[in-house]
Amino acid sequence: MPVIVFASSKGGAGKTTAAIVLASELARHNTSVTLIDVDPNQHSAKWAQKEGRPSNIQLVEKSTEETIIDDIDNAQAKTAFVLVDLEGTASMAVASAISRADLVITLCQGSQDDADEAVKTIKLINRQGKVLNRTIPFSVLMTRTNPAITPRTLKHIMSELEAAGVDIFKTSLIDREAFRAIRSFGGTVNDLDIKQVSGIEKAAANAHALAAEVIAKIKETNEVRSESHG
Ligand SMILES: Nc1ncnc2c1ncn2[C@@H]1O[C@H](COP(=O)(O)OP(=O)(O)O)[C@@H](O)[C@H]1O
Ligand SMILES: [Mg+2]
Repeated sequence: MPVIVFASSKGGAGKTTAAIVLASELARHNTSVTLIDVDPNQHSAKWAQKEGRPSNIQLVEKSTEETIIDDIDNAQAKTAFVLVDLEGTASMAVASAISRADLVITLCQGSQDDADEAVKTIKLINRQGKVLNRTIPFSVLMTRTNPAITPRTLKHIMSELEAAGVDIFKTSLIDREAFRAIRSFGGTVNDLDIKQVSGIEKAAANAHALAAEVIAKIKETNEVRSESHG
């Protein structure tokens, strides 16, 4: 069962938001998910402990470098998807989680600093891949993008990453109040009150597109893997 790891060497990149949004969207389609929170700040655990978490999302809180491998292996036996939310530094726990990943999602907002940090994370993923003698699939998810315009800086960053052969999600996670609101109120974007939060439908469509692309990517890498095994 696929393990998806959210990694970036920077805090505030959008890992927890993306993990929660993806977990919620998978759960909405009757898919069981374990959300493992390895960040000492426990931000995704805090969301999961609020009212409104879909009942088919299991939370594993306070995972650490000592427990992460067992936590992932146990979760894989129990639920269809395992999502791992990490802290924004390179640590033993991060390296361990990456080693178990079927897909690492690296978050990037539209600044050069973010792009540089994404490249650092990609280098770490590649080093882990060498240690394990396998290719660890990874993809960059642009996040907090503007729905109306793609600024020149963002275009430049994306073309630089593409030129370096880095895979970038076609879907980006747009900067929306609905994605902030779930962190405060709990639950999913689909449960928010349209009288209180704007752009709920658009956020829900965005979450749907993200989940569809994640599933397609995992299928793709599994096919490549089974072909290479004859
Ligand atoms: N797509 C988004 N739309 C609106 N706000 C976002 C979005 N992604 C992240 N944020 C906000 O940015 C901040 C950092 O995001 P977070 O997901 O916690 O990052 P990380 O887990 O990498 O530290 C949070 O306050 C969060 O609400
Ligand atoms: Mg976080």
